[in-house]
Amino acid sequence: MTYPERAVPAARLGYHVCAAALGILFLTACVSPSPRAEPAPEPLGSAPAAEAFRGSERVEALLAKMTTAEKLGQLNQMAGGRQIALNSRIDEGELARVRAGGVGSYLHVAGAEFLETLQRVAVEESRLGIPLLFAMDVVHGYRTMFPVPLGIAATFDTADAELSARIAAIEATSAGLHWTFAPMIDVARDARWGRIVEGAGEEAFFVAAMARAQIRGYQGTDLSAPDTILATAKHFGAYGAGTGGRDYDSADISERTLREVYLPPFRAAADAGAGSFMVAFNDIGGVPTTANRALVRDLLRGKWGYHGLVVSDWNSVLELINHGVAETREEAGALALLASVDMEMTSGIYANDLQAAVEASPALQAALDASVRRVLMTKERLGPFDTPFAYHDPAREAAVMLTPERRAAARHVAERSIVLLRNDKGLLPLAEAPGRVALIGALADDARSMIGSWKAQGRPEDVITLAATLKVRLGDDLVYEPGGPARWEADPAAIARAVRAAEAADIVILVTGEDYDLSGEARSRSDIGLPAPQKELARAILATGKPVITVVMTGRPLDLDPLDAEDASILLAWFPGTQAGPAVANVLFGAVSPAGRLPATFPRRTGQAPFFMGHYPTGRPADPDLSKDSARYMDIPITPAYAFGHGLSYGQFEYGSLGVSQSELAPGGVVTLSAAITNVSGVDADEVAQLYVRDPVAQVARPVQELRGFVRVNIPAGETRRVFFRLKPEHFAYLAPSGHYEADAGRIDFRIGPASDDIRLTGHITLTSPVVSAMPGAAIAVEAGTEEE
Ligand code: BGC
Repeated sequence: MTYPERAVPAARLGYHVCAAALGILFLTACVSPSPRAEPAPEPLGSAPAAEAFRGSERVEALLAKMTTAEKLGQLNQMAGGRQIALNSRIDEGELARVRAGGVGSYLHVAGAEFLETLQRVAVEESRLGIPLLFAMDVVHGYRTMFPVPLGIAATFDTADAELSARIAAIEATSAGLHWTFAPMIDVARDARWGRIVEGAGEEAFFVAAMARAQIRGYQGTDLSAPDTILATAKHFGAYGAGTGGRDYDSADISERTLREVYLPPFRAAADAGAGSFMVAFNDIGGVPTTANRALVRDLLRGKWGYHGLVVSDWNSVLELINHGVAETREEAGALALLASVDMEMTSGIYANDLQAAVEASPALQAALDASVRRVLMTKERLGPFDTPFAYHDPAREAAVMLTPERRAAARHVAERSIVLLRNDKGLLPLAEAPGRVALIGALADDARSMIGSWKAQGRPEDVITLAATLKVRLGDDLVYEPGGPARWEADPAAIARAVRAAEAADIVILVTGEDYDLSGEARSRSDIGLPAPQKELARAILATGKPVITVVMTGRPLDLDPLDAEDASILLAWFPGTQAGPAVANVLFGAVSPAGRLPATFPRRTGQAPFFMGHYPTGRPADPDLSKDSARYMDIPITPAYAFGHGLSYGQFEYGSLGVSQSELAPGGVVTLSAAITNVSGVDADEVAQLYVRDPVAQVARPVQELRGFVRVNIPAGETRRVFFRLKPEHFAYLAPSGHYEADAGRIDFRIGPASDDIRLTGHITLTSPVVSAMPGAAIAVEAGTEEE
C-alpha cells in the first residue's frame, strides 16, 4: 500500500476541486484571481511551508537518531487515567511502554510527585531520554474554580479571562501539568449545543478577543517558566456548527461562514502563539477535520505559518472509519498524519498500526518527521529537555492551591460574570435586612453544580454554595426549601413545602436552571427550557404572588418560561465556581452592581435556535407586522428574549459627546471613535460600552451588525468616562467574490451602546478606497479603552 496515492481522493477531501457542488471548503480556489493581487488569497497552495520548518540543533540531532517506532511513539498520547480516577491507567505495562519510547504524552494525569516518577522513567530509562508531556483539560480553573467559560466571557472583560487562565496555569503546573486543552474557541450560535458552555459564545470577533486573553493567561510570556502551561486552541475548525446543535454532528456551512465566523478565533489564536491546536471531531461538509489536509496542513500550516503542535481529539483518528473515509486503522492513521495532525489522542493507531505504511511511503515519512519535529520543538519550548522536573515540586503544589488570594480572584470574576437580565420592579438589590427570606431550589445548595462542566481538580467540598452564604448572612430570617430535585421527577410534597415557605416569607429567592450535567460535551438538548420539575416548582412559587427574585444557573441560553414574566427580577449566575455563594450574594445585596453581558443571544423558544445577532438582512427583513411576508416565525415576536450584549445595572448611564476623529478613512489610516459615558445614578457601577458596525452596501450581503469593540469601565456615581475604539479599514474586511478579504470603499455605519439592542449613539465613516486584508475583520484585534475626558 502506498501513500498518499491510497489516501482519500482529492474529490473526497474537497480541495483543488472547482465543482461548486462539492462545495463548501475553499471554494475560493476556483474563482478567478483578483485584480488586486496582494496579499495572495488564503486558499490552498500545494506545497505547504510547514515541511520547510526546521527544529533546533538538539531536536534535529535527536530526529536523526530515532527509529520509526520511536518517532511514532512520540506522536502517541495515551490516557493515563479516567476523568474520575487520574493516573489509574499507569501500570507496569505503561511504564514498559515509556521505557521503549512508545509514548510522547499522557492526558488525564496529575500530581507533582506521581508525575515526577513517571517523567524519571522517560528521561532516565528510555533510550533517547525524551521527556513526556502531561496534559489535562484545565478549562476554568484547576483547584480554584472560576465560572464556566461562557460565564467568564460574560464579564466582557479580557482581563478577567486572562486572570482566570493565569491562576489555572499556576495551580495546574504545580501539579506537574505542561499542557491544557483550553481555551475552547468554537463559535457557538446554537443554544441547543451542550458545549456552548465551554466557549465565549456566538460572536467571532468577541471569541477571538477572549481567545487571545486566555492564551496570554495560560502561556504567559515565557513558556519555559515553570508556572506557564501550553494552551490549546480547540476544536479547529467548525466544531460549533454541528447541525441542529447536536454534538459531533456535521458542519454543513458555507465557505463564507467558515472563514468569517468559525475560523477567525483560530487565526487570532495562531497569531497569539497558541502552542497547540486540537482538531474537531466533526466534518465540514463531509470532510472530517482530522483528515482535512486542505484545512489543517495547507491553510493552518501552509498559509497561516503555524508550526505548533496539532493534536487529534479523543479517538478522532480511529473515528475516521465511522466517518466513512477510511476502511482500516492504518488508512485512518495515514490520513490524519498526512493532514499534519501531529499527536494522536488515545486511539494508538500511529504507534501500533502505521509503521509498515510509513516505511513504504516517502510521503508518510516526510509527514512523520515533520510531526515529530513539532512535538519535540514543543517539548523544547516548554523546557522539560533542560529541566525535566521543574513542574514536579510537591512543596509548590501544596502551597499554591486555593489560597485566599486565588479564592478572592475567583469571587471577583464570578461577581463580574453575573448578568442582571431584568429588574422590572426594582426588587434588586435587596435591602441589608430584607425581612423573612425563603430560599427555594435544589440548585441553591448543589455544590457540584456550582462548579459546572469540566472540573479538573475542583471539589464540591471547596465550594461555598448560595444557601451556605445566605444562612450565615440572614440567620433565622432565612428558610431554605429545595422544592424537590433539580431534574427528573418533580416531588409534589417538596413543592408544597416550598410553597408554604414562600407564603410565610416577605421575599422569595428562587434558584433554578440547569444542573451541571445538562450542559457540556454530549449534552445537547432538544429543548432549552427549564427541566420539568424546575418548571413545576417555578409555577407554584410564582402563583403565591409573593415578590420573587430568580437566580438562574445555566451553561447555555435558556428559554426562561414561566419566569420571564412582567415584573420579574432575574439574575443570571451561570455556574459561578468555588466562590459561588459569596459572589451571588454580593450582587443580590448590592455590594457589587452587576455588569455582566450576554455573549450569546437568549432565544424565546427552542424553535428559534440557532438565533444570533450577526445574521444577514435578507430581502424581506423580519417585520413585527404579521400582514407582511417577512423572515420570521408567525407565532412568536421577531426579537430574542435577550439580545447579545444585554445586561442591566443598578446604576444608570447616559451616552453622549460622540467623537469621530475623522469622517474619512484611507488605507493605512486609523479612525478613533469615542463616547462620553456618565453615571447619572447614585451607585458606583461598571458599564460595558459596545461598538457595532455594518457595511450597508457591499459586494455581498453583510451581517446586520457585527461587534468590533467592547470596553468594561468602572464609573463612580456622578462621574463621566470617555471610552474609545480605534479602527482600521481592515476591520471591515470580508470574504469578497475575488477570494480575498476586502473592505469596500464607501460608507460604514457604526453604533455604540450598552447592548446590541440598546444603541445610544450612531454615525458613519467613509472608506476612501478599497483595501485587501490578510484576514477577515473579525480576526483582527481592536485597540479600545478609556481616555481622559
Ligand atoms: C473533548 C476534548 C477534550 C478531550 C480530552 C474530548 O472528548 O472533545 O475537548 O480535550 O476529550 O479530555
